[in-house]
Amino acid sequence: FEQPDSVVNTMRGRLLPSGQVVLGGIKEYLPDIKRCRRLIMVACGTSFHSAIACRQILEELSELPVVVELASDFLDRETPIFRDDVCLFISQSGETADTLMALRYCKPRGALTIGVTNTVGSSICRESHCGIHINAGPEIGVASTKAYTSQILSLLMFALTLSDDRISMGTRREEIIDALNNLPNLIREVLQLDEKVHEIAKQIYKEKSLLIMGRGFNFATCLEGALKIKELSYMHCEGIMSGELKHGPLAMVDEFLSICMVICNDNVYKKSLNALQQVVARKGSPIIIADKSVPENDLAGMKHILRVPKTVDCVQNILTVIPLQLLSYHIAELNGANVDRPRNLAKSVTVE
Ligand code: M6R
Repeated sequence: FEQPDSVVNTMRGRLLPSGQVVLGGIKEYLPDIKRCRRLIMVACGTSFHSAIACRQILEELSELPVVVELASDFLDRETPIFRDDVCLFISQSGETADTLMALRYCKPRGALTIGVTNTVGSSICRESHCGIHINAGPEIGVASTKAYTSQILSLLMFALTLSDDRISMGTRREEIIDALNNLPNLIREVLQLDEKVHEIAKQIYKEKSLLIMGRGFNFATCLEGALKIKELSYMHCEGIMSGELKHGPLAMVDEFLSICMVICNDNVYKKSLNALQQVVARKGSPIIIADKSVPENDLAGMKHILRVPKTVDCVQNILTVIPLQLLSYHIAELNGANVDRPRNLAKSVTVE
């Protein structure tokens, strides 16, 4: 519920009325960053999902290869790193051991390192060459929520700074900046779905399992929503790339399996509808999260539809994740779990 304000704090002083985006912490390094051969984002958990959420727009606006890595696996593989790589280490706490170790691995290999953290003075902040503070404000609960949306926003602004001299991208940049300026209002609107989400939670909180399906810009929402539900309510929940349905997960679908599908009117809309048809043909009855521009007819017969406002494709995932954050909260509460301190977890994972 703090997110209408936390996103404002993330953008404050950075989105200028002139349409320029200024990230003070990396300004001096921008010429080097623009010259790099590859962007690598390294993170764990929710922070990793924010990297997945922004990979596509970073590829589009930077025209560079963009690699996303789980810090633990990146270290296990002893991944080759070069002097002309730019590596971003995304971490709410700035202290996550695996992410910090990955930073310490990349630095001596000559890569330029950028910390994307919420904690001024944290280890990742101090040890990286430069950085972007996400400025979400202190996050108390173990489950990361406002930090996630602020991480996406910070990476979006990073993508915008990389393309500020590309005339051909002017229109695209403008539509994104307009969407960001309107974001707090849209988040307020999404939060009004809370009671509806609560009602859905009452119907599914005793289920053993939930699958969350989507693709494109909204795949990260599926992964992140599933992580929130696992972490807070201890229910088995999986985020599934709907393009992969027929390569395995479709076998699980029947009238008894709980499913949630994210369907937005973007470049993968037709494919998302196709996935919905495949699920419905196997008697699945998914909960739908859709943007308001999806025609009613395309969702005819669906029992639960959560409508979020329509915004530009690369910002839409900030709006689609919030109903899942709320859902995880309500399922956990209905099951009597402590939503601030889930069992077996710590806010900062400082051991490898
Ligand atoms: O502080 P970090 O962002 O580096 O933490 C990484 C993960 O441990 C963290 O995002 C974890 O997945 C969250 N508790 C999920 O809500």
